[in-house]
Amino acid sequence: MSKFAFSLLATDPKSMARAGLWETPHGTIETPAFMPVGTAGTVKGLTPDQLAATGAKKILANTYHLALRPGPEVVADLGGLHRFFDWSGPILTDSGGFQIFSLAKLSRMTEEGVTFRSHLDGSALNLTPEKAMSIQEFLGADVIMCLDECPPADAPEEHILRAVDRTTRWAARCREAHQRSDQALFGIVQGGTIESLRIRSAEALLPFDFPGYAVGGLSVGEPPPEMYRTLEFTTPVLPVQKPRYLMGVGRPIDLIEGVLRGIDLFDCVMPTRNGRNGMAFTSTGPVRLKNARHLRDTSPLDAECPCQACQRFSRGYLRHLFMCGEMLGPILLTLHNLTFYQRLMKGLREAILEGRGIEFRASQLARWGESG
Ligand code: GUN
Ligand code: ZN
Repeated sequence: MSKFAFSLLATDPKSMARAGLWETPHGTIETPAFMPVGTAGTVKGLTPDQLAATGAKKILANTYHLALRPGPEVVADLGGLHRFFDWSGPILTDSGGFQIFSLAKLSRMTEEGVTFRSHLDGSALNLTPEKAMSIQEFLGADVIMCLDECPPADAPEEHILRAVDRTTRWAARCREAHQRSDQALFGIVQGGTIESLRIRSAEALLPFDFPGYAVGGLSVGEPPPEMYRTLEFTTPVLPVQKPRYLMGVGRPIDLIEGVLRGIDLFDCVMPTRNGRNGMAFTSTGPVRLKNARHLRDTSPLDAECPCQACQRFSRGYLRHLFMCGEMLGPILLTLHNLTFYQRLMKGLREAILEGRGIEFRASQLARWGESG
Protein backbone atom coordinates (compact mmCIF):
# COMPACT_ATOMS: atom_id res chain seq x y z
CA MET A 1 0.00 0.00 0.00
CA SER A 2 1.35 3.37 -0.93
CA LYS A 3 1.63 5.86 1.89
CA PHE A 4 1.36 8.66 -0.65
CA ALA A 5 -1.90 10.05 -1.99
CA PHE A 6 -2.39 13.26 -3.92
CA SER A 7 -5.86 14.71 -4.29
CA LEU A 8 -6.90 17.86 -6.12
CA LEU A 9 -9.34 20.08 -4.27
CA ALA A 10 -9.74 22.78 -6.89
CA THR A 11 -8.50 23.95 -10.26
CA ASP A 12 -8.53 27.62 -11.13
CA PRO A 13 -11.06 28.27 -13.93
CA LYS A 14 -8.90 30.96 -15.58
CA SER A 15 -5.44 29.38 -15.31
CA MET A 16 -3.77 25.98 -14.96
CA ALA A 17 -3.42 26.43 -11.17
CA ARG A 18 -4.44 23.67 -8.78
CA ALA A 19 -4.86 23.36 -5.02
CA GLY A 20 -4.41 19.94 -3.50
CA LEU A 21 -3.65 17.76 -0.50
CA TRP A 22 -0.67 15.46 -0.52
CA GLU A 23 -0.43 12.71 2.08
CA THR A 24 3.07 11.47 2.88
CA PRO A 25 4.37 9.09 5.59
CA HIS A 26 5.29 12.18 7.67
CA GLY A 27 2.13 14.21 7.31
CA THR A 28 -0.16 15.90 4.82
CA ILE A 29 0.98 18.86 2.74
CA GLU A 30 -1.33 21.52 1.38
CA THR A 31 -0.34 22.39 -2.20
CA PRO A 32 0.88 24.53 -3.81
CA ALA A 33 3.79 24.43 -1.37
CA PHE A 34 7.28 25.83 -0.99
CA MET A 35 10.10 23.76 0.54
CA PRO A 36 12.95 25.58 2.29
CA VAL A 37 16.39 24.24 1.40
CA GLY A 38 18.34 22.41 4.10
CA THR A 39 21.27 21.32 1.94
CA ALA A 40 23.44 19.79 4.65
CA GLY A 41 20.70 18.70 7.05
CA THR A 42 20.00 22.19 8.41
CA VAL A 43 18.16 25.21 7.05
CA LYS A 44 21.07 27.52 7.77
CA GLY A 45 20.65 29.48 10.98
CA LEU A 46 17.28 28.12 12.13
CA THR A 47 16.37 25.54 14.75
CA PRO A 48 13.65 23.10 13.68
CA ASP A 49 11.19 24.95 15.95
CA GLN A 50 11.99 28.29 14.29
CA LEU A 51 11.66 26.65 10.89
CA ALA A 52 8.27 25.20 11.81
CA ALA A 53 7.18 28.66 13.04
CA THR A 54 7.64 30.02 9.50
CA GLY A 55 4.85 27.67 8.38
CA ALA A 56 7.17 25.30 6.50
CA LYS A 57 5.88 21.72 6.42
CA LYS A 58 8.26 19.99 4.07
CA ILE A 59 11.98 20.58 3.53
CA LEU A 60 14.67 19.63 1.03
CA ALA A 61 18.13 18.20 1.64
CA ASN A 62 20.91 17.25 -0.80
CA THR A 63 22.27 13.82 -1.63
CA TYR A 64 25.57 15.19 -2.89
CA HIS A 65 26.40 17.20 0.23
CA LEU A 66 25.24 14.59 2.75
CA ALA A 67 26.99 11.80 0.84
CA LEU A 68 30.29 13.66 1.24
CA ARG A 69 29.68 14.71 4.83
CA PRO A 70 28.88 12.90 7.10
CA GLY A 71 28.17 10.01 4.65
CA PRO A 72 24.90 8.12 4.07
CA GLU A 73 25.71 5.25 6.44
CA VAL A 74 26.47 7.73 9.23
CA VAL A 75 23.10 9.46 8.73
CA ALA A 76 21.41 6.03 8.75
CA ASP A 77 23.26 5.03 11.94
CA LEU A 78 22.14 8.30 13.55
CA GLY A 79 18.54 7.32 12.85
CA GLY A 80 17.96 8.63 9.31
CA LEU A 81 17.35 12.19 8.14
CA HIS A 82 14.20 12.84 10.18
CA ARG A 83 15.95 11.97 13.46
CA PHE A 84 19.27 13.53 12.39
CA PHE A 85 17.60 16.82 11.49
CA ASP A 86 14.88 16.48 14.18
CA TRP A 87 12.27 17.27 11.54
CA SER A 88 9.08 15.26 11.97
CA GLY A 89 7.47 16.52 8.74
CA PRO A 90 8.17 15.25 5.25
CA ILE A 91 11.62 15.61 3.69
CA LEU A 92 12.69 15.44 0.02
CA THR A 93 16.24 14.73 -1.11
CA ASP A 94 17.56 15.89 -4.45
CA SER A 95 19.65 13.34 -6.31
CA GLY A 96 22.88 15.17 -7.10
CA GLY A 97 21.86 15.73 -10.74
CA PHE A 98 21.87 19.48 -10.23
CA GLN A 99 25.48 19.40 -9.03
CA ILE A 100 26.38 18.12 -12.52
CA PHE A 101 25.39 21.65 -13.54
CA SER A 102 26.42 23.72 -10.54
CA LEU A 103 29.76 21.94 -10.00
CA ALA A 104 30.41 21.30 -13.70
CA LYS A 105 34.12 22.10 -13.33
CA LEU A 106 34.41 19.40 -10.68
CA SER A 107 32.40 16.71 -12.44
CA ARG A 108 32.96 14.19 -15.23
CA MET A 109 30.06 12.36 -16.78
CA THR A 110 29.72 9.08 -18.65
CA GLU A 111 26.76 6.82 -19.45
CA GLU A 112 27.50 4.95 -16.23
CA GLY A 113 27.19 8.01 -14.02
CA VAL A 114 29.05 11.06 -12.81
CA THR A 115 32.24 11.43 -10.81
CA PHE A 116 32.73 14.52 -8.69
CA ARG A 117 35.89 15.80 -7.19
CA SER A 118 34.71 16.80 -3.74
CA HIS A 119 34.39 20.58 -3.36
CA LEU A 120 35.65 19.99 0.20
CA ASP A 121 38.88 18.01 -0.16
CA GLY A 122 39.18 16.90 -3.79
CA SER A 123 38.39 13.22 -3.05
CA ALA A 124 36.22 11.38 -5.60
CA LEU A 125 32.47 10.84 -5.24
CA ASN A 126 30.99 8.50 -7.77
CA LEU A 127 27.29 8.86 -8.45
CA THR A 128 25.48 6.37 -10.67
CA PRO A 129 21.69 6.04 -10.80
CA GLU A 130 22.01 2.94 -8.58
CA LYS A 131 24.29 4.75 -6.14
CA ALA A 132 21.94 7.77 -6.02
CA MET A 133 19.12 5.40 -5.04
CA SER A 134 21.17 3.59 -2.42
CA ILE A 135 22.37 6.86 -0.84
CA GLN A 136 18.84 8.29 -0.77
CA GLU A 137 17.56 5.05 0.81
CA PHE A 138 20.18 5.36 3.55
CA LEU A 139 19.23 9.01 4.11
CA GLY A 140 15.56 8.03 4.35
CA ALA A 141 13.66 11.06 2.99
CA ASP A 142 9.98 10.61 2.09
CA VAL A 143 10.44 11.79 -1.49
CA ILE A 144 13.60 11.07 -3.48
CA MET A 145 14.66 12.10 -6.95
CA CYS A 146 16.05 10.26 -9.97
CA LEU A 147 19.59 11.07 -11.04
CA ASP A 148 19.28 13.37 -14.04
CA GLU A 149 21.47 15.50 -16.29
CA CYS A 150 20.73 19.23 -16.07
CA PRO A 151 22.43 21.12 -18.94
CA PRO A 152 22.97 24.90 -18.84
CA ALA A 153 20.45 27.17 -20.61
CA ASP A 154 22.88 28.03 -23.41
CA ALA A 155 23.74 24.39 -24.26
CA PRO A 156 23.35 23.48 -27.96
CA GLU A 157 20.23 21.56 -28.92
CA GLU A 158 22.13 18.29 -29.55
CA HIS A 159 23.54 18.49 -26.04
CA ILE A 160 20.07 19.02 -24.54
CA LEU A 161 18.72 16.10 -26.59
CA ARG A 162 21.52 13.87 -25.30
CA ALA A 163 20.76 14.97 -21.74
CA VAL A 164 17.05 14.18 -22.20
CA ASP A 165 17.73 10.66 -23.44
CA ARG A 166 20.38 9.98 -20.81
CA THR A 167 17.99 11.26 -18.12
CA THR A 168 15.39 8.78 -19.43
CA ARG A 169 17.84 5.85 -19.33
CA TRP A 170 18.98 6.86 -15.84
CA ALA A 171 15.33 7.11 -14.73
CA ALA A 172 14.82 3.50 -15.86
CA ARG A 173 17.85 2.42 -13.82
CA CYS A 174 16.65 4.41 -10.78
CA ARG A 175 13.19 2.85 -11.02
CA GLU A 176 14.77 -0.60 -11.19
CA ALA A 177 17.19 0.01 -8.29
CA HIS A 178 14.79 1.74 -5.90
CA GLN A 179 13.59 -0.61 -3.13
CA ARG A 180 11.96 1.26 -0.25
CA SER A 181 8.17 1.31 -0.56
CA ASP A 182 7.92 4.05 2.09
CA GLN A 183 9.68 6.47 -0.28
CA ALA A 184 8.19 8.09 -3.39
CA LEU A 185 10.63 8.28 -6.32
CA PHE A 186 10.02 11.22 -8.68
CA GLY A 187 11.05 11.39 -12.33
CA ILE A 188 12.65 14.59 -13.66
CA VAL A 189 11.73 16.12 -17.02
CA GLN A 190 14.58 17.86 -18.85
CA GLY A 191 14.69 19.45 -22.32
CA GLY A 192 15.78 23.06 -21.83
CA THR A 193 13.32 25.54 -23.30
CA ILE A 194 12.68 23.46 -26.46
CA GLU A 195 9.08 22.28 -26.79
CA SER A 196 9.74 19.07 -28.73
CA LEU A 197 12.44 18.02 -26.23
CA ARG A 198 10.30 18.71 -23.16
CA ILE A 199 7.49 16.63 -24.67
CA ARG A 200 9.94 13.89 -25.63
CA SER A 201 11.32 13.84 -22.06
CA ALA A 202 7.91 13.83 -20.33
CA GLU A 203 6.45 11.18 -22.66
CA ALA A 204 9.46 8.93 -22.17
CA LEU A 205 9.07 9.10 -18.37
CA LEU A 206 5.30 8.51 -18.22
CA PRO A 207 5.47 4.70 -18.74
CA PHE A 208 7.50 4.41 -15.50
CA ASP A 209 4.41 5.65 -13.67
CA PHE A 210 6.36 7.68 -11.11
CA PRO A 211 4.25 8.93 -8.17
CA GLY A 212 5.24 12.50 -9.08
CA TYR A 213 7.13 14.43 -11.74
CA ALA A 214 9.63 17.25 -11.45
CA VAL A 215 10.47 19.86 -14.06
CA GLY A 216 14.25 20.31 -13.91
CA GLY A 217 16.67 22.29 -16.01
CA LEU A 218 14.97 25.66 -15.49
CA SER A 219 16.26 28.78 -13.77
CA VAL A 220 19.68 27.86 -15.13
CA GLY A 221 20.27 31.15 -16.94
CA GLU A 222 17.27 31.51 -19.28
CA PRO A 223 15.13 34.68 -19.07
CA PRO A 224 12.01 34.25 -16.85
CA PRO A 225 9.52 34.54 -19.77
CA GLU A 226 11.29 31.56 -21.40
CA MET A 227 10.82 29.56 -18.22
CA TYR A 228 7.11 30.44 -18.06
CA ARG A 229 6.65 29.52 -21.74
CA THR A 230 8.41 26.19 -21.12
CA LEU A 231 6.06 25.39 -18.24
CA GLU A 232 3.08 26.14 -20.48
CA PHE A 233 3.96 23.33 -22.86
CA THR A 234 5.41 20.95 -20.26
CA THR A 235 2.82 20.64 -17.49
CA PRO A 236 0.00 19.64 -19.89
CA VAL A 237 1.99 16.49 -20.75
CA LEU A 238 2.23 15.48 -17.05
CA PRO A 239 -0.45 13.41 -15.27
CA VAL A 240 -3.18 15.60 -13.78
CA GLN A 241 -3.52 13.45 -10.67
CA LYS A 242 0.13 13.54 -9.60
CA PRO A 243 2.18 16.26 -7.92
CA ARG A 244 4.40 18.43 -10.14
CA TYR A 245 7.56 19.94 -8.73
CA LEU A 246 9.50 22.83 -10.28
CA MET A 247 13.07 22.40 -9.05
CA GLY A 248 15.18 25.28 -7.77
CA VAL A 249 12.64 28.07 -8.43
CA GLY A 250 12.45 30.88 -7.51
CA ARG A 251 11.60 34.51 -6.86
CA PRO A 252 8.15 35.30 -5.41
CA ILE A 253 6.81 36.20 -8.88
CA ASP A 254 8.19 32.92 -10.29
CA LEU A 255 6.22 30.95 -7.69
CA ILE A 256 3.01 32.70 -8.74
CA GLU A 257 3.73 32.29 -12.46
CA GLY A 258 4.66 28.62 -11.88
CA VAL A 259 1.48 27.88 -9.93
CA LEU A 260 -0.64 29.57 -12.63
CA ARG A 261 0.99 27.12 -15.08
CA GLY A 262 0.15 24.01 -13.08
CA ILE A 263 3.07 23.58 -10.63
CA ASP A 264 2.36 22.24 -7.10
CA LEU A 265 5.75 22.23 -5.39
CA PHE A 266 8.86 24.44 -5.32
CA ASP A 267 12.22 24.74 -3.58
CA CYS A 268 14.81 27.49 -3.76
CA VAL A 269 17.74 28.87 -1.80
CA MET A 270 16.65 32.43 -2.57
CA PRO A 271 14.75 33.30 0.65
CA THR A 272 17.47 31.83 2.86
CA ARG A 273 20.54 32.90 0.85
CA ASN A 274 19.27 36.43 0.20
CA GLY A 275 18.20 36.71 3.84
CA ARG A 276 21.73 35.91 4.97
CA ASN A 277 22.94 38.72 2.70
CA GLY A 278 20.59 41.34 4.14
CA MET A 279 17.92 41.21 1.43
CA ALA A 280 14.32 40.87 2.58
CA PHE A 281 11.18 40.09 0.59
CA THR A 282 8.27 42.13 1.91
CA SER A 283 4.62 42.75 1.08
CA THR A 284 5.67 46.04 -0.55
CA GLY A 285 8.66 44.65 -2.48
CA PRO A 286 12.29 43.77 -1.74
CA VAL A 287 14.22 45.68 0.93
CA ARG A 288 18.03 45.93 1.16
CA LEU A 289 18.63 46.42 4.85
CA LYS A 290 22.24 47.57 4.49
CA ASN A 291 21.02 50.64 2.62
CA ALA A 292 21.80 53.83 4.60
CA ARG A 293 18.17 54.94 4.38
CA HIS A 294 17.35 52.44 7.16
CA LEU A 295 19.87 53.88 9.67
CA ARG A 296 17.21 55.62 11.83
CA ASP A 297 14.23 53.67 10.50
CA THR A 298 11.94 52.79 13.45
CA SER A 299 9.40 50.96 11.29
CA PRO A 300 9.11 47.19 11.17
CA LEU A 301 10.61 45.32 8.21
CA ASP A 302 7.10 44.35 7.05
CA ALA A 303 4.10 45.75 8.90
CA GLU A 304 1.93 42.81 7.77
CA CYS A 305 4.29 40.02 8.79
CA PRO A 306 3.76 38.00 12.00
CA CYS A 307 7.39 36.83 12.25
CA GLN A 308 9.64 37.72 15.19
CA ALA A 309 11.89 39.93 13.08
CA CYS A 310 8.92 42.11 12.16
CA GLN A 311 7.06 41.95 15.45
CA ARG A 312 9.95 42.84 17.74
CA PHE A 313 12.58 44.84 15.91
CA SER A 314 12.99 48.00 13.84
CA ARG A 315 14.57 48.20 10.39
CA GLY A 316 17.25 50.36 12.01
CA TYR A 317 18.16 47.60 14.46
CA LEU A 318 18.14 44.89 11.77
CA ARG A 319 20.41 47.08 9.63
CA HIS A 320 22.74 47.54 12.59
CA LEU A 321 23.04 43.74 13.00
CA PHE A 322 24.12 43.38 9.35
CA MET A 323 26.55 46.31 9.50
CA CYS A 324 28.24 44.66 12.53
CA GLY A 325 28.24 41.18 11.01
CA GLU A 326 26.18 39.90 13.94
CA MET A 327 24.77 36.40 13.40
CA LEU A 328 21.31 37.40 14.62
CA GLY A 329 20.86 39.46 11.43
CA PRO A 330 20.99 36.49 9.04
CA ILE A 331 18.91 34.42 11.47
CA LEU A 332 16.12 37.00 11.68
CA LEU A 333 16.06 37.65 7.93
CA THR A 334 15.99 33.92 7.17
CA LEU A 335 13.06 33.61 9.57
CA HIS A 336 11.33 36.55 7.92
CA ASN A 337 11.93 35.55 4.28
CA LEU A 338 10.73 31.98 4.86
CA THR A 339 7.65 33.34 6.65
CA PHE A 340 7.04 35.62 3.64
CA TYR A 341 7.32 32.69 1.20
CA GLN A 342 4.99 30.49 3.26
CA ARG A 343 2.41 33.26 3.54
CA LEU A 344 2.65 33.85 -0.20
CA MET A 345 1.91 30.17 -0.86
CA LYS A 346 -1.00 30.26 1.57
CA GLY A 347 -2.43 33.34 -0.17
CA LEU A 348 -2.02 31.67 -3.55
CA ARG A 349 -3.72 28.50 -2.35
CA GLU A 350 -6.67 30.41 -0.95
CA ALA A 351 -6.95 32.34 -4.20
CA ILE A 352 -7.03 29.11 -6.23
CA LEU A 353 -9.66 27.61 -3.94
CA GLU A 354 -11.75 30.71 -4.65
CA GLY A 355 -11.00 30.73 -8.39
CA ARG A 356 -9.12 34.03 -8.39
CA GLY A 357 -5.54 33.02 -9.21
CA ILE A 358 -5.13 35.64 -11.95
CA GLU A 359 -6.47 38.41 -9.71
CA PHE A 360 -4.08 37.31 -6.97
CA ARG A 361 -1.11 37.76 -9.32
CA ALA A 362 -2.30 41.23 -10.30
CA SER A 363 -2.80 42.32 -6.70
CA GLN A 364 0.63 41.09 -5.60
CA LEU A 365 2.41 42.67 -8.59
CA ALA A 366 0.70 45.97 -7.88
CA ARG A 367 2.08 45.94 -4.35
CA TRP A 368 5.60 44.69 -5.11
CA GLY A 369 6.22 47.04 -8.02
CA GLU A 370 8.30 46.08 -11.04
CA SER A 371 11.05 44.40 -9.05
CA GLY A 372 8.69 41.82 -7.47
N1 GUN B 1 17.53 21.61 -8.89
C1 GUN B 1 17.29 22.65 -9.73
N2 GUN B 1 17.24 22.21 -11.02
C2 GUN B 1 17.48 20.88 -10.97
C3 GUN B 1 17.59 19.86 -11.99
O1 GUN B 1 17.44 20.10 -13.19
N3 GUN B 1 17.86 18.59 -11.55
C4 GUN B 1 18.03 18.28 -10.22
N4 GUN B 1 18.29 17.02 -9.87
N5 GUN B 1 17.92 19.23 -9.26
C5 GUN B 1 17.66 20.50 -9.64
ZN1 ZN C 1 8.64 39.17 9.06
